[in-house]
Amino acid sequence: MSPPLSSNDIRQAYLDFFRENDHAVIPGAPLIPENDPTVLFTTAGMHPLVPYLLGETHPAGNRLVDVQRCLRTQDIDEVGDASHLTCFEMMGNWSLGDYFKEGAIQMSFEFLTEVLEIPKDMLSISCFAGDADAPKDEEAAELWKSVGIPQERIAFLPKSENWWGPAGQTGPCGPDTEMFYWVGKGEPHDNPGVNEQDWMEIWNDVFMQYNKNEHGKFTPLTQQNVDTGMGLERTAAVMQKVKNVYEIDVLKPIVGHILRLHDDVEEQVSGTVKEETLRHARIMTDHLRAAVFIIGDGVRPGNVDQGYILRRLIRRAIRSARALGIEHSGMLTPAIAETVVQQYGDYYGHLREHEKEIRDVLSHEELQFGRALNEGLKQFQRAVEKAGDTLDGETAFHLYDTYGFPIEMTQELAAENHMKVDRTGFEKAFEAHQDLSRKGAEQKFSGGLADHSAETTKLHTATHLLNAALRKILGDHVYQKGSNITTERLRFDFSHDEKMTPEQVQQVEDLVNKAIREDLPVSYHLTTVEKAKEENAIGVFDERYGSEVKVYVIGNESITFSKEICGGPHVARTGMLGSFEIKKEESSSAGVRRIKAVVEGGPEEIEVAQQKSC
Ligand code: SER
Repeated sequence: MSPPLSSNDIRQAYLDFFRENDHAVIPGAPLIPENDPTVLFTTAGMHPLVPYLLGETHPAGNRLVDVQRCLRTQDIDEVGDASHLTCFEMMGNWSLGDYFKEGAIQMSFEFLTEVLEIPKDMLSISCFAGDADAPKDEEAAELWKSVGIPQERIAFLPKSENWWGPAGQTGPCGPDTEMFYWVGKGEPHDNPGVNEQDWMEIWNDVFMQYNKNEHGKFTPLTQQNVDTGMGLERTAAVMQKVKNVYEIDVLKPIVGHILRLHDDVEEQVSGTVKEETLRHARIMTDHLRAAVFIIGDGVRPGNVDQGYILRRLIRRAIRSARALGIEHSGMLTPAIAETVVQQYGDYYGHLREHEKEIRDVLSHEELQFGRALNEGLKQFQRAVEKAGDTLDGETAFHLYDTYGFPIEMTQELAAENHMKVDRTGFEKAFEAHQDLSRKGAEQKFSGGLADHSAETTKLHTATHLLNAALRKILGDHVYQKGSNITTERLRFDFSHDEKMTPEQVQQVEDLVNKAIREDLPVSYHLTTVEKAKEENAIGVFDERYGSEVKVYVIGNESITFSKEICGGPHVARTGMLGSFEIKKEESSSAGVRRIKAVVEGGPEEIEVAQQKSC
């Protein structure tokens, strides 16, 4: 068999290889994390698996594999060069207390050299160098040597390079070993510790063998996990022998589409595309691909949270279009989206299914922003002429508020004019307009992963009680449309056409409090999606669940208050919630209402709901 070359074939080969090695293939999760207020987007394959890495039982077993769409915006300003992307696909395999270093390294090596047929000489490795918290990872290095990697291709690097986690302040973490591919000139030589720029990281195997506690101490874990992540775009670049991720099979047609729209006589005559043209085409490719995936997972452009990031991506893409002289009057971004869906729709069927919606959302945003862009740029130019080396905060806010210029865009424009923006002044003007939300989004974005503290676990169980109570009071048309939990409050979006009356709000609150007073037990059992449906469990029955699911039941022999598909964790008894109060009922979007609620007065320490066999 010849090695897989296309992105579709590489994805499939990865899943097949690990399936043959007894891993359950699970579906990738949406880009928007459920019940995790600390990050806006799924940033790694392990992210949706955090509860299982912390010890919850995964219904599909203890060896898992998937392909996860991810989004990271830390490097958004670097997008446009040869390798940076905001949206990317991460292939990953996990051992939840099953195999450890030996199994992980052997399988990684076999996949690289036998399935992808990458010559061993083109590979190098990094391992953890050791420090006061944990010893040098000689074990991993020995394992690499035993499969045939020579000593000189193995670098030992410090924690900043070869350690992953914990995801939040505390939790599982450990040394990792990374695999690199030679991208330098001539014959491969040395290792990433010596000539870093010549070796491109393609895969990371994390050995979660420690727990970091609140005092910053690392203690060995009883359950040792493996968490790996392999970048699909980079792997495709290796397999397709291209130097640049934008030249891989699935991205090249998108860049090509954009370049065809850009009509530059000089470039046509000379037959070479300018670096600046390429930069803008790549920005548009990356940002619009990311936008298609974000909209496909249900987000709409807005001024807060994920909606704000989406808006920034689309508007930044439109600014690049303008720089390339490409017309943008509502038809451009939907046309590029069509090319994106052509490339990704076979594997990500939901994109094809929602293609019309995706195009409509983009078209609307493009029109809205396009109208304001010219006028806004004129205003910007006038302000620049008046200002010294700093653009004042009021003007930046005016550009944001009136012309829809994300502050980051104004900063970019200012930088192009060798100016700074008074960011503090902008924040002040922003706060004066009582809209703190974007700032919140930014802070959130730099945060870690969900904690699963007592507070969030209680609120998670309260969310199930609320969901069940709403259905009992308002009717069976109520379905969860979104859920977001912080340590302070829960936020629950559900389908319902009208504003709830004060009486209905009171009835729902009373019903939840009654369930709390009855101190009902909470437990879960494992079953198939089909059986969960048969037993009338509610839950979002979509592709995010594998064939086996956990069903959490709240109730005793006489009443089942709630039965819901969910990953957990939950408290063991409803009495631990103390009391429940609805703080707000408001509109979320058309046909969707939003409730914010809190719990108070329960114990500080909780017990977690356990599995019940049935
Ligand atoms: N969590 C690790 C990473 O993101 C391995 O998947 O690199």
